[in-house]
Amino acid sequence: MAESMKGLKRTHRCTEVSEANINSGKVTVMGWVQKRRNLGSLIFVDLRDRSGLLQIVFDVNDIGEEGFAKAETIRNEFVIAVTGDVTMRGGAFNENLKTGTIEVRATELRILSEANTPPFPIEENTLTKEELRLQYRYLDLRRPDLQRNLMMRSKVVTLVRNFMAEEGFLEIETPMLTKSTPEGARDYLVPSRVHPGSFYALPQSPQIFKQLLMCSGYDRYIQIARCFRDEDLRADRQPEFTQIDMELSFVDVDDVIDVNERLLAKVFKEVLDVDVALPIQRMTWQEAMDRFGSDKPDVRFGMELKDVSEVVKGCGFGVFTGALENGGSVRGINAEGQGAMPRKKIDALVDFAKGYGAKGLAYMSINEDGTYKSSFSKFMTEEELKALADAMDGKPGDLLLFAADKNKIVYNVLGALRLEIANQLGILKKDDFRFLWITEFPLLEYDEEENRYVAMHHPFTMPMEEDLPLLDTDPGKVRAKAYDIVLNGTEIGGGSVRIHQDDIQEKMFAALGFTKEAAYNQFGFLLNAFKYGVPPHAGLAYGLDRLVMLMAGEDSIRDVIAFPKVKDASCMMTQAPGEVDKKQLDELCIATAVKQD
Ligand code: AMO
Ligand code: AMP
Repeated sequence: MAESMKGLKRTHRCTEVSEANINSGKVTVMGWVQKRRNLGSLIFVDLRDRSGLLQIVFDVNDIGEEGFAKAETIRNEFVIAVTGDVTMRGGAFNENLKTGTIEVRATELRILSEANTPPFPIEENTLTKEELRLQYRYLDLRRPDLQRNLMMRSKVVTLVRNFMAEEGFLEIETPMLTKSTPEGARDYLVPSRVHPGSFYALPQSPQIFKQLLMCSGYDRYIQIARCFRDEDLRADRQPEFTQIDMELSFVDVDDVIDVNERLLAKVFKEVLDVDVALPIQRMTWQEAMDRFGSDKPDVRFGMELKDVSEVVKGCGFGVFTGALENGGSVRGINAEGQGAMPRKKIDALVDFAKGYGAKGLAYMSINEDGTYKSSFSKFMTEEELKALADAMDGKPGDLLLFAADKNKIVYNVLGALRLEIANQLGILKKDDFRFLWITEFPLLEYDEEENRYVAMHHPFTMPMEEDLPLLDTDPGKVRAKAYDIVLNGTEIGGGSVRIHQDDIQEKMFAALGFTKEAAYNQFGFLLNAFKYGVPPHAGLAYGLDRLVMLMAGEDSIRDVIAFPKVKDASCMMTQAPGEVDKKQLDELCIATAVKQD
């Protein structure tokens, strides 16, 4: 039977009780029963709350017959309140617990709530399948590792808010029911009842609103903002996620980078006691692609790409020369010391490469005696093979892997392969935090399907001044004043300086193939606002979930989000999305083409 807590007041969380409480009055603790051991005349309970565990002892001599009988009914996950005296443990100390030297000898017990047996044990590092845990997320969230993650997330948010407030940022909320925003993913739509047939879009980011706030003179804006994107999910992508979103007036790239470096240093120091060496390394997008095959390189290890196009030019291997003739390149990576990798594992790497669009993967191992074993040795002379190995700094015992194709595919394949090999070798340490700014992104990207340029970041991103003339002549070559902040191979944030001059904005829309009408249709309120006096401005947004995931050493952002969705964007616990009443649909003038059963 559940009892009330009337007359009782919690004095401490479990791990706030310490040796200092011995002989200084009674304590009252409340929480969940983690474990119970009944030794006949003594009952031990591990009591759990979000702070950790505390051992309680029920002894008939302390609590009396009635209380002891009640204690015998306690089961796992019951919620109880205990008042008692703190003493040193009678038995062995537990060095793994903060409260490992003490126990509370109960003089009063209330059972505040009984509990069914949970479908899986509430414990750290559980082996229970994630689907079941997400179905019972409220139980899963009792696990100490998830509680630590969410407490860390809360601490990060608090630190960010405080730091930004000290730096003069104002926290301002922007609407959830709005118009389509320019991030370019698919929108989540909300039907309007009052305007049948019309829809709001949930924001993919507060981008336009924060720029409008700059027009309105707020100068420095910050928001912990929820964003919605209907994209295919991955370990670091959720349909709704949280940004630390900011915008600043009268600034350029270096100003944004400066405040953010100090923010990151503060957060990592306070939360993890990690010193972030400032300034953070910067690398242009082109250099990142050339050296790592990725615009979010993991710089915890080397294995950099090398362009060997010049070396293999004119060799007898058609795969290589063919790629060069088609305007592509041949590049390789050196997996040092992996020359003895068994054929089966190499074949698995070839398949892995094909998964990233490669037509094949050429390889060459350098034997300890200096001879070569290679998938293309029959097409090349000994001298050509040697020249290639030398160009890759190949030493006996190394494995060289080559991709030959259009640059985009070569980067993609080798960038992914490098990470795959590092993961297989287990050389990536989660507590080795390597930050990197990527700068000078291309402004535009050619979309083969749409046959036009699309904005790589968004259409309000400022081109680099020196590249402005190229906007009319060779738009693909224009670099942007855009920057991403990358941590250990994950893009944790991105932003840009915005266009505030209307002639440049018009050129940008022209390069994107937008007519003036189309541009005004979509973003008219922003373009109009700019006619009334707009300050130069720039901003950045972090993916808070990704940042905390890396700080917590997790592999998925689901482990730092209280109620995440699974791969098909559904919620295992609430069963959202779900069907709705016909009446609701009728009110919205909506008929669905999907048959409802
Ligand atoms: P961007 O689209 O790069 O920029 O988003 C900023 C950061 O948000 C995170 N992120 C995500 N996290 C989880 N799930 C997702 N589906 C997801 N999509 C993005 C990433 C990313 O770096 N308005 C601009 C910012 C600006 O220009 O100021 C924007 O939204 O970590
Ligand atoms: P083949 O003559 O087709 O047997 O190819 C010889 C070697 O070249 C094999 O190891 C293939 O995997 C490899 N290969 C084929 N296409 C490519 C490519 N685009 N880039 C790199 N290697 C390739």
